[in-house]
Formats: sequence, structure tokens, C-alpha cells
Amino acid sequence: ELNGNVTIIVLGASGDLAKKKTYPALFGLFKNGFLPSNAHIIGYARSKMTHDQYIERITQYIKLKSDQDRAMLQAFVNMTSYHAGLYDQDEAWQGLNDFITRNENDRQVHHRHRVYYMALPPSVFIPVAQGIKAHVYTNGFINRLIVEKPFGMDTESSNQLGHAIGQLFSENEIYRIDHYLGKEMVKNCLNLRFSNIFFSQLWHHQFIDNVQITFKEPFGTEGRGGYFDDFGIIRDVMQNHLLQVLTLIAMERPISTDAEAIRDEKVKVLKCIQPIQLDQALLGQYVADGGKPGYLEDDSLKNKQSKTPTFAALALHIDNERWDGVPFILKAGKALNEAKVEVRIQFKNVAGQLYPNTARNELVIRIQPNESVYMKFNSKQPGLSYQTIQTDLDLSYHHRYTDLSIPDAYEALILDVLRDDHSNFVRDDELEASWKIFTPLLHAIDDPQQNVPVHPYPYGSRGPAQLNDFIKAHGYDYTASK
Ligand code: BG6
Repeated sequence: ELNGNVTIIVLGASGDLAKKKTYPALFGLFKNGFLPSNAHIIGYARSKMTHDQYIERITQYIKLKSDQDRAMLQAFVNMTSYHAGLYDQDEAWQGLNDFITRNENDRQVHHRHRVYYMALPPSVFIPVAQGIKAHVYTNGFINRLIVEKPFGMDTESSNQLGHAIGQLFSENEIYRIDHYLGKEMVKNCLNLRFSNIFFSQLWHHQFIDNVQITFKEPFGTEGRGGYFDDFGIIRDVMQNHLLQVLTLIAMERPISTDAEAIRDEKVKVLKCIQPIQLDQALLGQYVADGGKPGYLEDDSLKNKQSKTPTFAALALHIDNERWDGVPFILKAGKALNEAKVEVRIQFKNVAGQLYPNTARNELVIRIQPNESVYMKFNSKQPGLSYQTIQTDLDLSYHHRYTDLSIPDAYEALILDVLRDDHSNFVRDDELEASWKIFTPLLHAIDDPQQNVPVHPYPYGSRGPAQLNDFIKAHGYDYTASK
């Protein structure tokens, strides 16, 4: 079903994203038989490189597990070429178009199908989209544009960017990547919810007490301070990745699995979330500990007085009948005590507790590492005791599916683009609705006059000391689930 006429043009081919994510994902697709043999990949960037230098660059992060993989890599390398050029000159874009056209002619491609993958910094998004539209876009054939975050800094800048790109490409041609939507367990959220009767019936404020969505990384922003400092943790992972997860947990059942049906429901639930107020946020920034440098000590950071948060806990509320009164607590941080991304849904106490002190049920969706879904539930202690104890019903992927290798998120998403499936990409109205939730809070944090407190926390800790009180105040009690 995949179209062998496809030419994938990686713009920004010499950059970090391309070498770390895009090319390894393309190789993964090729290895698994998802890249048609007549397909071709063209790298484009400003740096002049020989073919060998290009190949060395793009294969650097490709992991080879066997001799067969090595042979595959050779075949993959033969499907790719490089062309250097500037991002803001008509002649350069014409040069790229000639290069692609010659390549298509050599491959006897008549139905042109071009995928433009923008692995670029946001400062060149618009000139590049303009250059492509004016000189490389093929009228009457297939053109697809893949864009990566950041999509703006707030509602206004995101809308401006969206408007500029929307003048050039139709919404159907645009694929906005949020790579969390390509992760196996994130994709599983809708299957879990809508194919299990016990979840569908209990998914309601009557039975659910609170939802926590947590993102923890055990490393800091070392080397990325230049980028990170302008954005902060909320823009970096919460407005996009964590909010996407929240949306999948909270949305109503779509009328079908069609991309527009799914995205319609996502937009609806996002519009039910009120903008986050300052008192619904707790912010932090890591400081040196255990031999690890603090955020402000990183060489790549220009502003040594920066107050950019590297940690945030936010309490969100969804104003609809299903979620009335249920707090959704989002937590994200760099330089914490462990690597973990998960959703934890805590149910209410059983009515009229027959067994005293039983813990609450919880459903946990572990996104990474060690993908799993488990349910904390209560059971009689086996043997001669009548005591009720808490235990797990556990679907750990690495136990259940022993020979499964879970595809990288980028691999899954690029395949979706080739199949023209928009389900796992962010629609324009969805993007706007998501920015509206965060923009007032972000503006308050960015305004030095408001002096919003950013609490220090030691590198490798759970976050600021105020975290437990914050979470408790917003509706989650650790002691209730033990
Ligand atoms: C990126 C952020 O979008 O997501 C990074 O810019 C973050 O700061 C990364 O580390 C996390 O992605 P993953 O797939 O490693 O969980």
C-alpha cells in the first residue's frame, strides 16, 4: 500500500534532530520493510559536505544489532543523497528542486510524492516553508510537510506561525509532530479506554478521585541551556507531551477511529480546561548536588541569573460532567531522582469499607521505561490470614510480549505520514486550544515584575520540598494509596 514514488526531503539534515531521530527512524522503517525500495531520501542543509561526510553524519546514531543490519545499512545508504543550499535564497530552492526532479526522473517517478521533513530551528520555519512552496512544491501531486516543535511561545506567536504556514500549505498537507503521540503506550490509551467495559464504566468523577501525569528525567539540561532557557519545562514538555497524554485520558469517545473524529474530541476536551492560574502551579529549578552541576552552572546557559523553571507541578481542572471536581496533576522535571513517565489514575474509596484500611485502587499506565499497564488492587493475603493486602494485576510488556521490539516514536510517526494518517498529529485548532490553557501562566512567569517564586531543588531529588504539600492541597493524598 505504500507509495514507491515517495521522496523524503530532510531539511536540516546536518542538525541534531536529523541525526539523532529522523535518520535512525527512517532506517528502522527501511529495515522493517516499510520504506519502498524505490523511495529516496534527500538531505538538505547549509553545510557543504561530501557524500561520505553526509553518510557518516546520518549513520552515527543508527544502532546495528547484527550482520544483517549492517547489510541493510548499506542498502539504506544507497537510497539517500545530499544537497547543500541556503534557506533564504530563491536560487538555492530552485537548485534543490532540480536535484529532486533529476533524482525522480532517474527513478522513473511520474507521480511525484514529496515529503518535506523540517528538522530545523523555529527561526527558519517560515522562510523554508516559503521557499519550498515557491520552488519545490509540485502542483497536482502529493506534498506533505512535517513540522517539529516549538510551535511558537504562546497563543499569539503560535497563531502567527500557523497563519504563515497555513497560507502556503493546506491543513491536510501539514503534520505537526508531538513525538509522544508516537509512543506505544500513548497510542494504547484509546484502545485501553474504549475496548474494556470495566474502564469505560468507571471513567467518571463518581469513581475517579484524581489523575496524575508525571514526567521525570534524571539528567539536567547540560549543553542545551541555550535552547531550554527561552522555553522552560512547561513549554518544553507540558504544553505538548503531557497535555496530549491528558487529552487522551480525558476525551470523550470519538465516533470512529478516523483522524478527524479523534481530533474533534481532543479539541472539545481541551476547550473545557480553564487557563491555569498562578496558585495552581509550583515551580522549581535544580541546584548542584552530589557532584552534579546546578542549572545555572551550565556553560551553554547565557543568563546566569535565569529564573527559568526546570520543574513544574500544575493542577488542572476539566469543566465538564465527566470530570467535575477531579484534579489532573501534571508534574515534570529535569534532574530528578529517576527516569519515568506515567499516568496514575486513583479511584475513590470503596463505599462502606468492609475491610478497614484498604488502599485505593489505581490504574497505572507506564509510558517509559518498561512499558506496562498495571492495576493496584486488593486481595486476601494468601494462606491462613484473612487480611486484605494490596497487590498488582500487571501487564508488563517485556514479560508478556517477550520477542517484541517496540518501535521508536519517530518511526511510528513517519510511517503514519507515509500512510497519510493524521490521527497522531496535532491539528491547528488543537494547538490553539492547548496554548490557551498555558499562555496566561507563562506570561506571568516570564514577567519579572510578578516575581513568581521558583523553588530550588537538589539535582537528583524528587523536586522542590513544597511538592508534597502542593499536591495534597490540590487533591491527592499519598497515604490513601500507600
Ligand atoms: C523533548 C524535549 O521534546 O522531549 C526534551 O525537548 C525531552 O527536553 C524530550 O528530554 C523527552 O522525550 P523522550 O522521548 O526522551 O521521553
